[in-house]
Amino acid sequence: MHEEFPTDEPAVVTCGLPYANGDLHVGHLRTYVSGDALSRALARVGQDVAFVCGSDMHGTPIAVNAAEEGVDPESFALEHHERIRETFPQFNVEFDNYGHTHDGTNTELTREFVRSWIDGGHVLEKEIRVAWDAAADQPLPDRFVEGTCPYCGEDARGDECDEGCQRHLEPGEIEAPVSTITGNPAEYRTRPHKFLRLSDFQAYLQGFLDRLEGTANAQNQPREWIEGELQDLCITRDMDWGIDYPGDAAGDASDAPEAGDSTETDLVLYVWVDAPIEYVASTKQYSERVGADEYDWEAVWKNRADGGEIIHVIGHDIIQHHTVFWPAMLRGADYNEPRAVMACGFVNLDGEAFSTSRNRAVWADDYVESGLHPDLYRYHIVTGSEFVADVDFSWDGLQERVNNELVGTLGNFCYRSLLFAERNYDGTPDAEVSEEVREEIEAAIEAFHAAINDYRVRGLGQVPLELARFGNEYIQRHEPWKLTDDDPEAATQVIRDCVQLSKALAVLMEPVLPGKAETLWNQLGEPGSVHDTRLEDALAAPPDAFDEPGELFDQLDDGTVERLDAQLEARIEAAADDAADDAAADRADTETDDADSADTAADAGADADRTETETDDADAADADTMDVDPIANDRVPFEEFTDLDLRVAEVLSADPIEGADDLVRLEVDLGVETRQIVAGIRQLHDLESLPGTRIVVVANLERTELFGVESDGMLLAAGEQADLLTTLGEAEPGTTVQ
Ligand code: 2FM
Ligand code: ZN
Repeated sequence: MHEEFPTDEPAVVTCGLPYANGDLHVGHLRTYVSGDALSRALARVGQDVAFVCGSDMHGTPIAVNAAEEGVDPESFALEHHERIRETFPQFNVEFDNYGHTHDGTNTELTREFVRSWIDGGHVLEKEIRVAWDAAADQPLPDRFVEGTCPYCGEDARGDECDEGCQRHLEPGEIEAPVSTITGNPAEYRTRPHKFLRLSDFQAYLQGFLDRLEGTANAQNQPREWIEGELQDLCITRDMDWGIDYPGDAAGDASDAPEAGDSTETDLVLYVWVDAPIEYVASTKQYSERVGADEYDWEAVWKNRADGGEIIHVIGHDIIQHHTVFWPAMLRGADYNEPRAVMACGFVNLDGEAFSTSRNRAVWADDYVESGLHPDLYRYHIVTGSEFVADVDFSWDGLQERVNNELVGTLGNFCYRSLLFAERNYDGTPDAEVSEEVREEIEAAIEAFHAAINDYRVRGLGQVPLELARFGNEYIQRHEPWKLTDDDPEAATQVIRDCVQLSKALAVLMEPVLPGKAETLWNQLGEPGSVHDTRLEDALAAPPDAFDEPGELFDQLDDGTVERLDAQLEARIEAAADDAADDAAADRADTETDDADSADTAADAGADADRTETETDDADAADADTMDVDPIANDRVPFEEFTDLDLRVAEVLSADPIEGADDLVRLEVDLGVETRQIVAGIRQLHDLESLPGTRIVVVANLERTELFGVESDGMLLAAGEQADLLTTLGEAEPGTTVQ
């Protein structure tokens, strides 16, 4: 439906806004590095693109933390905003604009959005029950309340079920609410609030999801959320910190109580209203800075026949906000819709989630202090797994990738090629590039294009590595060092090819390894910057002369890794001890039924950071799938294989299992009978398209129960994307697979 990149329209790549309430860690940085790599890649193929983001300044996490530190939320958030902003360049993440949600541009645009919804008749007022702390005599919006998720029964905090089904929770929905201020059970009181009537956009959203590009989880997961009538979205909160509701506020602003009266609060917009609008505001700021002739924000965002290419890069915990609420908000204000939403998996430490509150984390500062080049992290995180899967961060994992792939393959090829070229020819030998090498570079360019158009960020790092592998194989096959005397013409040809391959590598590695790409570009004696190149430049002749090159990458030595590992291990152990202490304290609390209110409030504050990386995910098993696994050594006798009864089965129905994030209940026709199978493919497939598909199942597997649902068999699927094994011909359901 959409044209392939590059298109004639301007594009914008955005990343989920970090809350301005704490430092970034290497888990958070995955989204920003991926967005940066994608935006650079788009520029390399000639797409007009801006890369924007900003800090998320409002909301209860910030109000809670600021109160705890005894500072006003604005200074608190601004200080964190500055720290976060300064972190990005340390990882070569270069936004064209990095604003924040409390600045004038965003405040003004947010008010315009809300006024458009009001004018369009999409806003209604309702009296609703909100959680209330009787002792503190104040309302408990969002993170000020904890309890149980009404959908999945897991512990939930305020407006999201971040440890369970990850749904957004409306005010009043949380069950067994407890105040995080006093630790007392909350009561409910009735308050007037404003709502965006999402059901006005129901039909629109159906169509939008059909058009939406990006990752499979973002395309498929929201389908179930828009089934049935969409619930109204409460867009106001009883708080002082935020952007004031611009209409005639419920509890009219003029009647608003005096500041300092703890029993009353203002009505501000819900943080998830003004946060995504910062995507627009930040683009606008960029456009105003460079001039609309160079980049026109309205061509991207404002409703016109050929809208711009809006691509959101986010963590997979905020898919609902970006694929349901946000498109409705845009539509209601007559703005353009996103073309793509790309939702990445989490980053784990030692197979487990980060915990910022327990300091179970590798902070951005830790990485910077390690002295390691930022591109090493970037490469590791981008190519460590498919974008949608979780990835594990460890220092020895990083070492393995750096030493084998960056030093051993990419760096090795470029260094030996350029050194040989410089020593023997003072630079690029005088010859045309061979047909074989030209074709190889062209194929790499094509693969790079495909990675962009398929939204496979991992591919952007894999393409240059594959080309370097080819280069090493090529140079090894021709052994030019043996040819210089016997067949100088052949030696010249091989080295000419290798210099061209090095130049192509510089261009192709720029998105993921921008710093190292620039070094290589300079080593080649190229004028200008590799950041201004186009993919075609990969095939243009390199300069005739260049100086002796240096090694592109250094080995990551065992001593450094051991030191960093030991530091991290100690931190992980301390975090585990803290968790054990907290669990013991919780048990004691339950036994004495004496909630310690101060601790509860402190925990809530500390935990209020972004929880992107704190959720255990069933996909963790896929986390460290870096490359194709080696073939197993253990051979299996044929008889053992035939013990498995593999059959062709036709999918009759595929339904999500209520409350289980990944699971699907399939009814399949096995020829002789119908079976029920439970499979973890929910976020990877459009369930509506599955009926009629012929798949392969293990029919004689022991029965099991998943999420309380019996599974009688197992379907076969390949890789992290659960690519289903299907039949090529007409094999009927029940046919044995052998
Ligand atoms: O979940 C979060 O960390 C939010 N601060 C993300 C906001 S993204 C955008 F839509 F505003
Ligand atoms: Zn839940």
